[in-house]
Formats: sequence, structure tokens, C-alpha cells
Amino acid sequence: MRIDVLTLFPAMFKGPLTESILKRAQKEKLLQIKLHDLRKFGLGKYRQIDDSPYGGGAGMVMRVEPLVEAIEKIGGATEVRSQKSETRADLRPAAQHKVHRIYFTPRGKRLTQSKVEQLAKKKSILLVCGHYEGIDQRVIDGWIDEEISIGDYVLTGGELPAMVLIDAVARQLEGVLGHEYSAHEESFSKALNRKREYPHYTKPSEFRGMKVPDVLLSGNHKKIEEWRSEHLL
Ligand code: ADE
Repeated sequence: MRIDVLTLFPAMFKGPLTESILKRAQKEKLLQIKLHDLRKFGLGKYRQIDDSPYGGGAGMVMRVEPLVEAIEKIGGATEVRSQKSETRADLRPAAQHKVHRIYFTPRGKRLTQSKVEQLAKKKSILLVCGHYEGIDQRVIDGWIDEEISIGDYVLTGGELPAMVLIDAVARQLEGVLGHEYSAHEESFSKALNRKREYPHYTKPSEFRGMKVPDVLLSGNHKKIEEWRSEHLL
């Protein structure tokens, strides 16, 4: 899968994308992430991105021209890479697929696990990170397929939501989680009826008087299954 990110702050992505599972997924070419600096598309000598809102009011609005130029350019991005094996994610250029364009805003539809699973099936997505009071509505009307919110609170920009989405989508891709993890039976998965997972325990079986439930030590798989399904939330 390929994910393009359009942002004024590409450096914010260092860390989340360069450690742990996401680092390995990219190294193994299961996932290709490309960051694009929106400032490069700014207008004039000062590379202006934003302006004051028509109708007045506080805050600034991101202008239509830099955003549209960037979105159109990225939609036609051209890094050609062949697939190493059939199980590996498709890394063909965004231009060969319809790029699904997402804009992050508190006005968007709430991100859920089933939306994450749906997005993980796409070959190519573009994440547009806004700042200030938002972006010119014409960008959304003409160049965005879907508006997504990660919750009913307001963040300073779309970068953290983009990282949240990338992380959640990446772990759904085949081969990304090692065999010690599973995206199949976990909180919000279909296998658990979209419920929250049961509690987990490991050694020791007793810690400062706090005991692991006996049934989990019993070796009785049927009973353990029952206990687990009773403890879904
Ligand atoms: N931008 C600012 N706040 C946001 C939120 N809660 N979700 C998505 N994008 C945002």
C-alpha cells in the first residue's frame, strides 16, 4: 500500500514512522509512505499558504491554490517499484490507481475500526493535513473524497490524526504484524463482534496477593473461551 501525506510539518512524522512496526513495514516494502511539504507549493516569495477568511472572523484559512496544486501533483506521483513477491503490498505509483483523498477535520466522520479495515484495502491514499481554522471549502468540494475526524476534540492540525490513521491501517496489512501479534481477534475486530477485548494476564500467577483468574490456569480451553467471551466489553 502507498500512503502520501501532504503537510506543512513533515518533521512531525519522524518517530512514529521511523520506529518499531511501521519502520519494519516500510523496510520490507509492505508499506510505502511519502511525505510532501506543502510549503513548497506556497504562493510568492514568502510561500504563502493561508489568508484571512472571507466574511471576517478570527484565524486564517488555508488557500485553495497551493492545496489543489499539491493534491493534483501527488495524485500523479510516479515512483515506480515492482512487487517483490505476491504477498507483498502493491507499491505501484499512485497515478496507476485511484488515489483516495482524505482530509482531517473535527467536522469529519469519526474514525472507527471498520473504516480502518476498509481503508487498508485501498492501494493508495492521500492524507491532507490542515492547520489554522481549516481549509478553503472549495478544496473539500472538488478534491477530497472523505473527511475524517479522530474524535470530538480539536487538535492543532491534521498531523496527529494522520499518524493515528497510518498506524491503525498499517497493522491491518498482510505481513505487517509478526506472528506474535494478530489483527484478527482484538478490540473492535469482527471476530470479537466489534467489542473491546477481554483482559490479559501473564506470569507470575500471583503478584502481591493479586491472583490470575483460576480458569486461565486450568488448561480447559472451552472454559477459557467462555470466560473470555464473558469478559468482552
Ligand atoms: N484536526 C483538528 N482536530 C481534529 C480531529 N479531532 N480529528 C481530525 N482532524 C483534526
